[in-house]
Amino acid sequence: MARKFIAMLSAFLMLGTMTACGAVDSGTGNAGTDTNTNANADSKTDNSAKDDAAAESKADDTSSGGKQTVGIAMPTKSLERWNRDGEYLKDQFEAAGYNVELKYSDDDPNQQNNDIQGMIADKVDLLLIAAVNGNTLSQTLSDAKDEGIEVIAYDRLIMNTDAVDYYVSFDNYTVGKLQGEYVKKELGLDKNAGPFNIEFTAGDPADNNAPYFFNGAYETLKEFIDAGKLTIPSGKEKFEQVATEGWSTDTALENMQNTLASYYADGTQLDVALCSNDSTALGVAQAIASDYSGSNAPLVTGQDGDIANLKNIVDGKQSMTVYKNVSDEAGVTLEVSKAVLSGQTPDASLVSSLSAEAAYDTESYNNGKKVVPSYLLVPYVITKDNLDLLVDTGLYKWDSDHKYLESTASTT
Ligand code: BGC
Repeated sequence: MARKFIAMLSAFLMLGTMTACGAVDSGTGNAGTDTNTNANADSKTDNSAKDDAAAESKADDTSSGGKQTVGIAMPTKSLERWNRDGEYLKDQFEAAGYNVELKYSDDDPNQQNNDIQGMIADKVDLLLIAAVNGNTLSQTLSDAKDEGIEVIAYDRLIMNTDAVDYYVSFDNYTVGKLQGEYVKKELGLDKNAGPFNIEFTAGDPADNNAPYFFNGAYETLKEFIDAGKLTIPSGKEKFEQVATEGWSTDTALENMQNTLASYYADGTQLDVALCSNDSTALGVAQAIASDYSGSNAPLVTGQDGDIANLKNIVDGKQSMTVYKNVSDEAGVTLEVSKAVLSGQTPDASLVSSLSAEAAYDTESYNNGKKVVPSYLLVPYVITKDNLDLLVDTGLYKWDSDHKYLESTASTT
């Protein structure tokens, strides 16, 4: 009891120190969320015991004089965005005074399980995980929970476990919706009768985000598909038919080559290649360049603002990308983590003090075991006409000819 009191007192003092240093001040803002649903009220009651335990273990850390350690598990170095995520997260957490254990798992679910088990054995204080496969971490996370380690699902939701505490991501459905709306506007679907031909390329079936992106785009365009203004010559209109394992550029290239050979070799015009992200758009644009005989430039959508895709946008081989500022995502994750690491239970009251615009959502992300409280950032559209918006983020710069964008980050 005395130990617990001292633990809570130290956690309280530490919280005071962090607040004084300008860290997130979310501990006092709960009054504003009292009107929240019963579900929230229940989860707060459930959480109070957990908070005490968390405060106790955090206080133990500080009394031993050590810095707290955050374990960060990223999926792979082979896709540009995760290098950026890893770098921004590491930099921001270290600058805030935490130790960081960062691992990339080569897109291999077994390796990621092993990597996270290693972090649990190292007694990290918090886990941030961008899952390779959202469905294969349940046992490992149950081990983390047994050790009192809280878990934040980063960018991709982790499924079928009650051991995930928070989810920080962008509004994934809106990403697809922005792609659909772009197509609707560019083709003038409200006015023009068409028909226009469209093909979809979606993401990795093991990534819980992928169906959200696909559905956001498909459902935005569905009324035009139903009305016959948009047709899908390949007939592939279901997520499973157009999914791309591992978000692989090569697989997307091959799939598009096959589609072009089977349905467009007779001169049928392709108007839109709706791709869920940039790594797949890269392959699709390559297939169009090499295997499409039409004289038009089909609209090609993407997501992420990868450097190679921004070059394609300048060169007219890709039309747009939905941009998600990964540095902001890392910043919001840091702010949620700080609250968790100081023994608090972050909720809606944190939103107003976050460094980037984000919504707090306790309804949309059900992982099969629980609805995971989510902080969702806001994506936006980049085309060749507003590339300067990327420069404004400080994460990109023009090359010496002011023609293409380069990254200002060191790893990409
Ligand atoms: C991310 C996307 C990314 C894709 C492939 C998704 O989970 O949200 O930004 O393009 O994975 O890495």
